[in-house]
Amino acid sequence: MITFNGVTKRYADGTVAVDNLSLEVPTGEITVFVGPSGCGKTTSLRMINRMIDATEGRILLDGVDVKTIDPPTLRRGIGYVIQQAGLFPHRKIVDNVATVPLLLGWERKKARDRAMELLERVGLDLKLADRYPFQLSGGQQQRVGVARALAADPPVLLMDEPFSAVDPIVRTSLQEELLRLQAELNKTIVFVTHDIDEAVKLGDRVAVFRVGGHLAQLDDPATLLARPADDFVREFLGRDRGIRRLSFVSAEGVRLRADLLVPVSTDAASASARAAGEPWLAVVDAGSRPLGWVAVKDLPESGTLAELELAPYGTFVSGRDSLRGALDATLLSPSGNAVAVDGEGRAVGVATREALDEALAEVAGSVGGSAGGKGGVGGSVGSVGGSGGPVRGAGSAAGSSGSAGSAAGSAADAESTGLGAEGTGDAGE
Ligand SMILES: Nc1ncnc2c1ncn2[C@@H]1O[C@H](COP(=O)(O)OP(=O)(O)OP(=O)(O)O)[C@@H](O)[C@H]1O
Ligand SMILES: [Mg+2]
Repeated sequence: MITFNGVTKRYADGTVAVDNLSLEVPTGEITVFVGPSGCGKTTSLRMINRMIDATEGRILLDGVDVKTIDPPTLRRGIGYVIQQAGLFPHRKIVDNVATVPLLLGWERKKARDRAMELLERVGLDLKLADRYPFQLSGGQQQRVGVARALAADPPVLLMDEPFSAVDPIVRTSLQEELLRLQAELNKTIVFVTHDIDEAVKLGDRVAVFRVGGHLAQLDDPATLLARPADDFVREFLGRDRGIRRLSFVSAEGVRLRADLLVPVSTDAASASARAAGEPWLAVVDAGSRPLGWVAVKDLPESGTLAELELAPYGTFVSGRDSLRGALDATLLSPSGNAVAVDGEGRAVGVATREALDEALAEVAGSVGGSAGGKGGVGGSVGSVGGSGGPVRGAGSAAGSSGSAGSAAGSAADAESTGLGAEGTGDAGE
C-alpha cells in the first residue's frame, strides 16, 4: 500500500504543484490519477519513487516513509513506464528489457532469459528481440516499455501516460493487455492519464485531480460516474456519464424470456400461437444458436420458420456483459429486443425492451444510493474505450538525452527507468 499523508510539492519558483494530498493506493490494485494538464499528476507520481521529493508531508510505502529509503534501493522495487516508452535507441529490444536486471547485477544470460520471457508475456513477437527501437511501431515500443518496467518483478508499477502517444486502436489493445497482465501479476499500479475513459476502464479506483494539485474525488469508477463530488468532476467526466455508467452494471439481473426462443424447425402456425401476443420471436438453430428475429405478423399460415427471411439480431453474454452491452444489443435489431447467450453463444433467453426498461429504472433509482463496484462486469468493461483522446508528442526521455552509448546507470537510464544512482533527480527546479 502506498499512502500519501498531507503531501505538498512547492517548486522553487513557488508553483504549488500538489497541495496537501492525502490518499491511499491499495496493494494489488490499479489506482488511476486523472485530471487536466498541469494538475500535478506527474509530480505526485514521481514523489513516490523520489524522482521528486515532497516539500511537506509523507509518502509511505507499506508503512515506511520513502524519505528514509535511499532512492536506488527504493526504485529497485518500483517499475516506471513513461509515454513513448523512453527506450534506449542504441540498445536492442532484448537489452532494453534486460537493463534493470543488469543494473541489479544479474548474470547476462539470466537477464536475457528473463527479458525474452517478458517480451512474450506482453504479447511481442520474439523475432523483434534483436531489433532496435526505431524498427518497432509505437505500440510495440510501448509494450517493450512495460516489459522493461516488469523485468525485476517490482511489486509497484508507476505508469505516466504510457499509452497517450499511440493511436486509439493500438491504445485499446495496450489497455486490454495491461488488464490481462494485471489479472496475473497483481501489481500495485499507479497509472496517470488525462483521459477519463482510460481512467474508468483501467482503474479499480480513480483519483480525479483539479489544477493546483487538489484531489477532487477518489472513488471506484461506478461510484465516480454515478455520484461526482462536484461540478468540476461532473464536467470532467463528460456528457455520456449515465450511459457509460451502465458498463459497470451487470446485465445479470435482466429478466429473460426463454419462451420467446423458437427452433427453426417449428411450423409457422404453432410459432404464432406460441407468441401469445408478443410481436417478435427469436429463431434459433438445432444447436440453440440465434439465427434472427421473425415478426409474428409476418408469419405465413403454413410451412416452417426455415423458409423465412429473418431480421438481424444483437446478443449479449448473460452473466458476463454489462447493461450497456445488453442495451447495445437491442439497438442492433428492429425487434428492439436482445438475445441473451451463454459463453458458447447458445441462446438462453430474450431480454425484451420492457425487461431492460425495468433494469434501467433500477439503475436510475440507485443514483444517490449505493452503486456497485467494478468487479462483476468482466469482459464488457472494454466497451468504455475508444475515445483515444488527443495524441500527444512529447519527446522521449532517453531518445532526446543525447547520451546514446552511455553505460548502464547513466542519466538516461535514471530518467526512463526511474533507476538512477544519483540523488533524487529533482532536476528542472
Ligand atoms: N520543475 C518545475 N518547476 C516549476 N514548476 C513545475 C515544475 N515541474 C512542474 N511544474 C508545474 O507544476 C504543475 C504540475 O505539473 P505536473 O507535471 O505534475 O502536471 P501533470 O498533471 O502531470 O500535467 P500533464 O497532464 O500536462 O502531464 C504545473 O503547473 C507545472 O507547470
Ligand atoms: Mg504529466
